[in-house]
Amino acid sequence: MGVAERVATITVNRPDKLNALNDRVIAELGEAIDEARTNADVGGVILTGAGRAFIAGADISQLEHQEPIGLKALAQRGQVVFRRFETSPKPVIAAVNGFALGGGCELAMACHIRIASETAKFGQPEVKLGLTPGYGGTQRLPRLVGKGRALQLLLTGEIIDAHEAFRIGLVNRVVPADQLIATATTMMQTILANAPLALGACIEVVNAGYDLPLEDAMTLEATAFGLLAATEDKREGTRAFLEKRAPGFKGV
Ligand code: COA
Repeated sequence: MGVAERVATITVNRPDKLNALNDRVIAELGEAIDEARTNADVGGVILTGAGRAFIAGADISQLEHQEPIGLKALAQRGQVVFRRFETSPKPVIAAVNGFALGGGCELAMACHIRIASETAKFGQPEVKLGLTPGYGGTQRLPRLVGKGRALQLLLTGEIIDAHEAFRIGLVNRVVPADQLIATATTMMQTILANAPLALGACIEVVNAGYDLPLEDAMTLEATAFGLLAATEDKREGTRAFLEKRAPGFKGV
């Protein structure tokens, strides 16, 4: 992990195996996101891959000799780490530079925003191996792109390009490969110009409210909205806005 101007970059660095996720890589991803979450110098995270892949999935060689209990435990270890990305109060952007297959697509979906290079490829090909996704693909994919499109990808195992991923709502933006990190960094700087507690609260309320009945979710939102009144960022931000709009206004 490297940190520059409050942006931590986590690079999955196993390019000879297209950054396939073995136990070590999963553990290191967990350490990296926890470090980013706790390091006061970090405001947000960009996740990317070294070489021509983002992540080409779980390491298939590690899946080969697993029994049911071991394979379930492996899925759950990864799920816990991916959830650390999803619940990070600091925004996480996936800068998808190449293959995002299986666990790669799943980790990208656990990030808050996805920017894809034109060369990126997405898919959940687990059925071709006689498996389901294990790191959240059956759950996050329908939530992002809708049930019908998700089932098409899950059942065919087909791989789609970045433009198709954008069309179905799987990624937020597609950019030329040489602009990927710069675009992610610029978007992150735009985000980090905003109040950090408000950013964390947005992420928390979206995550916590997503599967609740609307009324309960709205209560969560109102609570966060109200609590932010206690922050200096809210007082300053509101005051600055009103003073700009209505010079002399002192009532905030
Ligand atoms: N697990 C372990 N190793 C993997 C891997 C994975 N998921 N994906 C790629 N690799 C390894 C290959 O075995 C190869 O290693 P080697 O050079 O030691 O033989 C290396 O990465 C390069 O991959 P290769 O297949 O030669 O590249 P390619 O450009 O011909 O094909 C892919 C790229 C992504 C289409 C192909 O590697 C692939 O289908 N990978 C598996 C994708 C998948 O099913 N993921 C879901 C797993 S649950």
